[in-house]
Amino acid sequence: MSQKITGVKGMNDILPGDVEVWQHVERTTRELFSLFGYGEVRTPMVEDTALFVRSVGETTDIVGKEMYTFEDKGGRSLSLRPEGTAPAARAYIEHSVANQEPVTRWFYMGPMFRYERMKTGRYRQFHQIGAEGYGSKEPAQDVEMMDMVVQLLLKLGLTDVSLNINSLGDDACRPAYQTRLVEHLRAHASELCSDCQVRLEKNPLRVLDCKNERCQQIASAAPNILESLCEPCRAHFAEVQRKLDALEIKYVVNPRIMRGLDYYTRTTFEFIAAHPVLGTASTVGGGGRYDKLVKSLGGPDVPAVGFGLGLDRLCLLLKESGQQFGRATDLFIAVADEGSADAGFTLTSRLRREGFRVEFDTRGGSLKSQMKRADKVGAVFTLVLGEAERQSGQAQLKRMAGGDPTPVRLDELAQTLRTALKAH
Ligand code: HAM
Repeated sequence: MSQKITGVKGMNDILPGDVEVWQHVERTTRELFSLFGYGEVRTPMVEDTALFVRSVGETTDIVGKEMYTFEDKGGRSLSLRPEGTAPAARAYIEHSVANQEPVTRWFYMGPMFRYERMKTGRYRQFHQIGAEGYGSKEPAQDVEMMDMVVQLLLKLGLTDVSLNINSLGDDACRPAYQTRLVEHLRAHASELCSDCQVRLEKNPLRVLDCKNERCQQIASAAPNILESLCEPCRAHFAEVQRKLDALEIKYVVNPRIMRGLDYYTRTTFEFIAAHPVLGTASTVGGGGRYDKLVKSLGGPDVPAVGFGLGLDRLCLLLKESGQQFGRATDLFIAVADEGSADAGFTLTSRLRREGFRVEFDTRGGSLKSQMKRADKVGAVFTLVLGEAERQSGQAQLKRMAGGDPTPVRLDELAQTLRTALKAH
């Protein structure tokens, strides 16, 4: 026997049965985001490595440890995208979108790749729903983003998710915070993990999202960033809160939302679900403002804000909710004898053309085995076609759940079935 080849660790197959949940989330997202006026953008799965180094940041875990980086045959260093903000910004700049419209609002869905230690809700290929808005520096734009997520969660019936917000300040006030932070961290320098010793020198803010237990303890006693905000950043954050209140969106101000990526300025936020199915992977989404990123990637000076939601995590939560997704089989057509196989096959095709979901067992087999199959696929109705039915042009439409069968003329089957399904 040949040796079995298995899928790559941390990269999942999504099979029928589960995929309906994914399709439901994707469909709901598309419908909702279009109400907000967001257009879909599709960027490649692979980008120049430098794009992520310069945006997400060299000292972040994502770039430093988790990226799938390789050389192509032309000797270029490429990386599988670990997130969607940098590729979207790259496309926004490359297509000079800022010259065409003052405000641009995009969304995307698709796989991202991070070489993480995997567990439930944390994978190496995972999927994000993301949105990015360019061109407005106003707090209302931040709140529009959060509102969009809130409405999506609500539409999906995921009510037990809390919104945490914070502000990371900007170039005017963050350096002062960084000085206070470094002072605090230096006092514990020898207790920090080896990565954080480097971060302390290169990018002290990143110490605050280290997963090491001792580093987390030290981080939890760090100075509060909100106490260091300059007046414009403080006013921006206050206005974000006022607008969230106006939309009756509940939130918690949490100065520990640091986000683990370097490009953020001012508002950051995370959506956290307290459901045991997610374990420690409880953050279903996060985002924030990044007013300097587009310019730093060689584009115009355009402010921006966005978010990313973990689609895998949303689907885990949704599966737990016990809701049913996907369309039921309307009718199963069984044949009583081999001579009726062609008629059954043709009738099946005709009804599918009329928009019904119809199942037919192409293997034929005994009536008993076909009925078992009808039960397995969860058909609402069955119809048996045999010599007598073909001769008379009449058959019986039978509800699988029981009850008297309805006599039906085969040339009126579509109409009768439509009526019967409505009544079902
Ligand atoms: P992020 O927080 O790195 O942000 O990822 C967003 C979401 O993706 C997380 O909250 C989580 O639900 C999901 N996620 C991340 N890593 C994994 C993983 N290994 N397995 C499963 N799910 C995962 C960003 O990526 C930013 N680009 C968000 C953003 C957009 N900020 C501004 N615009």
